Amino acid sequence: MKNLISGWVWIPAVFLILVGTTEYFIDSGDNFAFIEYPILQLVLLVCLLFLIALNIVLASIKNIMFQSLSEEAKEKYLAAREERLKKFDWKVILRKVNDAKPISEERDIELDHNYDGIKELDNKLPPWWLYSFYATIVFAAGYMFYFHILDGDNQAMEYEKEMIAAQLAVEEYKKNAPDLVDAENVTLLTEAEDLQKGAAIFQNNCIACHAADAGGGIGPNLTDNYWILGGGIKNVFHTVSEGGRAGKGMIAWKSTLKPTEIQQVSSYIISLEGSEPANPKEAEGDLWTE
Ligand code: HEC
Repeated sequence: MKNLISGWVWIPAVFLILVGTTEYFIDSGDNFAFIEYPILQLVLLVCLLFLIALNIVLASIKNIMFQSLSEEAKEKYLAAREERLKKFDWKVILRKVNDAKPISEERDIELDHNYDGIKELDNKLPPWWLYSFYATIVFAAGYMFYFHILDGDNQAMEYEKEMIAAQLAVEEYKKNAPDLVDAENVTLLTEAEDLQKGAAIFQNNCIACHAADAGGGIGPNLTDNYWILGGGIKNVFHTVSEGGRAGKGMIAWKSTLKPTEIQQVSSYIISLEGSEPANPKEAEGDLWTE
């Protein structure tokens, strides 16, 4: 079993490295490269088959050579391999990466410093530490080259770029979504087209209480310049959107009408100021001046 694993384990390892390399070098946006370019799947598959075939060929050559050995040589070979597999024992590996002298042999590396009984050992640097250190040097060289010689983007620069991209995305979004009007930024519409749409919305939703000519009924007269809840486009927009005082009967329309529609109907109402409705309700609220 051990044999089987050690004979095949390199294939997925090499294959993964291969896949990783293609992902690294082929620019495929947010997707995996092999999804973006299906031909790559074929290439990778061929590579995998090649690796498997190679392994089978190597294994049979090994087998033929083994069979051609004399009994004595076979035994020697098996013993040597047993020895080799011991290298994969984790205790052996651990000893290797630390390369420390066992306590029983420490006498050999003792230095002749002696400070009040505290002695010093001339230990080797542990290989795991030493090679990690070398790796940082290599990394630093790459880092230095990329950021200071090739002028790669630093964090501040990356931030700037992302902010610019986001800004563009927001503008793009606003272009396609004009429904971002609210009581703060709403403006009075005066185009005939908008006022017509406002009139239609008014006829469909509001005349039961405000009368078809907005002269008032259950709700107040909307054509005079007296306002209970404040005049001007911002206040009117706010009233239509959020509703009147509790219990008076004027509901919040923001769940029924879109912001632009509220803007249109509010503009329409304001455009009615001074019109003379048939049965005007007497003025309520305060005289509004801008
Ligand atoms: C169910 C009856 C009813 C309907 C329908 C109705 N309103 Fe009202 N509206 C009222 C009442 C009642 C008030 C007074 C609210 C208050 O006193 O707080 C009012 C107040 C208002 C005011 C504020 C008037 C002021 O003097 O400040 C505006 C503007 C208004 N309505 C617009 C509309 C619009 C636009 C629609 C249709 C989308 C509409 N209303 C639909 C009953 C209604």
